[in-house]
Amino acid sequence: MKDILEPISAATKEFRAHVLAGLAGTPKKISSRYFYDAAGDKLFQRIMASEDYYVTRAEDEILRDQTDAVLAALFNGHQRFSLFELGAGDGAKTKHVLRRALEQGRDPVYHPIDISRHVLDQLGQALKKELPTLRYQAEQGEYFEAIERGFSDPSEAKAVLFLGSNIGNLDRARAIDLLKGVARYLGPNDRFLVGFDRKKDPATILRAYNDSEGHTREFNLNLLHRINRELGADFNVEQFIHTPVYDPSSGRALSYLVSTCDQDVHIPGAEAPVHFNAWEALHTEISQKYDNAMIEDLATHSGLRITAQFTDGKGYFTDVVFARTDPER
Ligand code: AVJ
Repeated sequence: MKDILEPISAATKEFRAHVLAGLAGTPKKISSRYFYDAAGDKLFQRIMASEDYYVTRAEDEILRDQTDAVLAALFNGHQRFSLFELGAGDGAKTKHVLRRALEQGRDPVYHPIDISRHVLDQLGQALKKELPTLRYQAEQGEYFEAIERGFSDPSEAKAVLFLGSNIGNLDRARAIDLLKGVARYLGPNDRFLVGFDRKKDPATILRAYNDSEGHTREFNLNLLHRINRELGADFNVEQFIHTPVYDPSSGRALSYLVSTCDQDVHIPGAEAPVHFNAWEALHTEISQKYDNAMIEDLATHSGLRITAQFTDGKGYFTDVVFARTDPER
């Protein structure tokens, strides 16, 4: 039987189902994981390079200035080890750690894990040039599947990195699911390093999500452009405004796209037009900020204990190293 719609991939089908469900709910919401198409990846690179987005710089400082201590906390003197990274991206911060390990005459194998084949190919090419002696084994796919494949040798020292406060895009329950999901693979000597963006001056946080060059605004609005491009919708993007807010009590930075007028949006495959009231908000992202108690709470509920932590000079960001509380192996 022929569909009235163009043939579309499984990924596009999933995207459409997610968008339709998110726009049918109250309040309206769409997950930030859909920010990252090719255009979104480029915009995120610009955000990371911008003055107002302190997050990347703060963690880069930690991994650049405290490299030896981080290596010791992860691999405890092991000569040979495997380093897994969830959502590796351009690997810029991880290169500090890998470069230093090679300088120390150690023999690391780097396993970047990413959904995007394109990202992994680019990273592989850059590493070939910059760290030609590094052993490299890209793992394309879902995080847990890739860890399952890569964690085959129980005698080898292993660590998993989840940098950039990517965990902050997950609410508490989902963050615990992710931490637990990784914890179950950890042996007694394995470590899990997670980057947490800390609570700080609310003005500093708000600026990071409303940078003066407008990259974050474009990044958020790109979601509507993407829905138009990939799903054939007719969002009038000019009639939405990028609106980040920060609640210092919960530590939640939230991003919204707010409709400036009464309007209907048509999405092929939807039963009816999607209506926005004037000043109705579409929630697109959570970027959780943490204090020590929140980090300890996540650890406790995920079967993890803290073995080391590293903070930048301004106290903006902390890389926390965890071990499993009750490793079976
Ligand atoms: C990549 C999820 C850590 O939430 O700070 C940057 C993404 N969004 N500016 C973050 C993002 C808006 C970023 N993370």
